[in-house]
Amino acid sequence: MILAALPTRKPGTGNPVTIERRSLQQTFENAFHREPEVLSEAPGRVNLIGEHTDYNEGFVLPIAIDRTVAVAAAPGAGRTVRAYSVDFDARDEWRIDAPRRTGREWRDYVRAVAWALLDAGYELRGVDLAIAGDVPPGSGLSSSAALEIAVAGALCSVADISVQPERLALICQKAENQFVGVQSGVMDQLAAACSRAGHALLIDCRSLDRDFVALPGEIVIIVVDSKVPRRLGETPYNQRREECAAAAQELGVSSLREAAIGDIEGLREPLKRRARHVVSENQRVLEAVDALRSRNLARLGELMYESHASLRDGFGVSTPELDLLVELASRTTGVFGARLTGAGFGGCTVNLVERDAVAGFEAGVVERDRERTGSPATMLICKAVDGLRIYSLG
Ligand code: GLA
Repeated sequence: MILAALPTRKPGTGNPVTIERRSLQQTFENAFHREPEVLSEAPGRVNLIGEHTDYNEGFVLPIAIDRTVAVAAAPGAGRTVRAYSVDFDARDEWRIDAPRRTGREWRDYVRAVAWALLDAGYELRGVDLAIAGDVPPGSGLSSSAALEIAVAGALCSVADISVQPERLALICQKAENQFVGVQSGVMDQLAAACSRAGHALLIDCRSLDRDFVALPGEIVIIVVDSKVPRRLGETPYNQRREECAAAAQELGVSSLREAAIGDIEGLREPLKRRARHVVSENQRVLEAVDALRSRNLARLGELMYESHASLRDGFGVSTPELDLLVELASRTTGVFGARLTGAGFGGCTVNLVERDAVAGFEAGVVERDRERTGSPATMLICKAVDGLRIYSLG
């Protein structure tokens, strides 16, 4: 019951996880009256820089965070899948060969992953799954990719299927695009599958080449959740994708990755603004990697503020709540940079903060935000963790 291509560990090693393993095992036993054999965990992510570039074949720089979706699993009876969601206290049951849409979120993500694995030619088997997560949903921290990758790890593991993490990420992206119907890029799934502890993950979304970029010890990554929730499927996310595709078509290139800033002047609005964001953001990601590697945190911070301004004014995906959080961060001592992270339209900001300035950050950003707006924003100090982890419980 070991996945050759995926890191399989004994419980108790590797990253500390936030989901209580023992309580998930117990939940599994209560739900199915048997013991789980495998535990599959995948992290959420925060994107340091490189927003709305992945589906334009550009560069991104996400970090897998210590918020996780965990799936306890064991081979099931015959071809039946039984799934229990701890967070929704809800069950689902279906035949592994015929996953159909239910229109109900967590169920469809689980079914989507099975559908995409079958579609890729893998032979799955019946399985029992207990699922729990602490990635806040609808906040731009990729709870859905974490769910997909964790479920994929569990389904493959119980069926003795060995899949490289990169391939698993592509299969899960297809699940989200074609079964769930959100045209997401590949960043979130790759971050959930392929990240390394202590590092950001530079991804070239054209070639899928990846590189780990070490995070300096003197900084902490703080996520502030504006608590303005959004479901990607209900935002203009797909519309932005279409605008970028239209801009590329007008320019006669296969994707905006191939466009230079000088090329876009002749485009009509809003395509020009959208394209300007994407082209300049790609450049910022590469500069950000140089800045991280040379420990030029001031420059990295500037690039983050520029990214936010470009997402707000050019790409049109910020909100007043996110703008205020970034503005407060920019006026707080010990903060190098801040920007909205993820798709936008609500969700979180990512902040690069000096390790000993955390208390000042909370006072200057979170508390001030609460005083000014009554907002329920919360902050989370993130640790950079490994991608998908599979543990054999036997
Ligand atoms: C969402 C999508 C990603 C990416 C970001 C924006 O998180 O799932 O693929 O496009 O938005 O950068």
